[in-house]
Amino acid sequence: MITPHILRFDSLPSTNLEAAREAADGASEGLCVIAAEQTAGRGRLERHWISPKGAGLYFSIVLRPQLRQSEWPLLTLMAAVAVHETLIDVFGLTADIKWPNDILANDKKLCGILAETVETRLGRAVVLGIGVNLRTGSFPAELQDVATSVQAATGQDADVEAFILPLAQALVSYYQTLQLPEGPERILREWSRRSSYAEGKRLRLVDGAAIIEGVSRGLGPDGALIIETNAGELKTFRSGDVTRLRPLEADGNEVHAQRDQK
Ligand code: BTN
Repeated sequence: MITPHILRFDSLPSTNLEAAREAADGASEGLCVIAAEQTAGRGRLERHWISPKGAGLYFSIVLRPQLRQSEWPLLTLMAAVAVHETLIDVFGLTADIKWPNDILANDKKLCGILAETVETRLGRAVVLGIGVNLRTGSFPAELQDVATSVQAATGQDADVEAFILPLAQALVSYYQTLQLPEGPERILREWSRRSSYAEGKRLRLVDGAAIIEGVSRGLGPDGALIIETNAGELKTFRSGDVTRLRPLEADGNEVHAQRDQK
């Protein structure tokens, strides 16, 4: 049984970097690093994660998985399930999971997850970094349209302290589930149950220069997203950025926004 051990900092460049440093020094799995602010927060696809003081939870956990290499991508899906469950339990949020691991409320991003592997003298470790927006008031204007926060989604000021331990416990518990013989299947099922993106969602996926539009058709055994393209072909994607598209009407035209509101 892994017991979460929490280290708190006032300010760090990145909790992922600090957790990776601790992992390289031999930290046990379950070590969690939290900072009140990050000065160089890291996002997926080399993006920056804006991390002002008091506006978010900046959290990283060290894990040392005993999984087949092909199952490692399931760690971020597992983390999304754990965060999704904790957001519902603690804040009563209505939330969705966008493939692979963004948590959305009202179709806007509320949480991002970044997994990074670290080579250590105890073997390969993974640092799972989780950023939850608590308040978006101080976010730059361009983020206000695409990001939301627990405060904006619930109308209440989020008590981050009430969230930290349940989050760490949910992560450890789903992590242990993932490592059971039937664990990968259980995590895929949990993820799909919680995500409107798993099945039948019209979406666009951008992966480098490739842009694909189609309908989601579930996940592969390693968490890859299967898309039925507009040409009727099933394609599997292991990375990329997904955005939802409006549903098509029977005539193949997009449903218009004003008709959505009826
Ligand atoms: C994403 O781009 O969606 C992933 C964002 C992950 C941000 C978190 S905040 C805590 C941890 N430390 C980092 O530097 N990044 C992750």
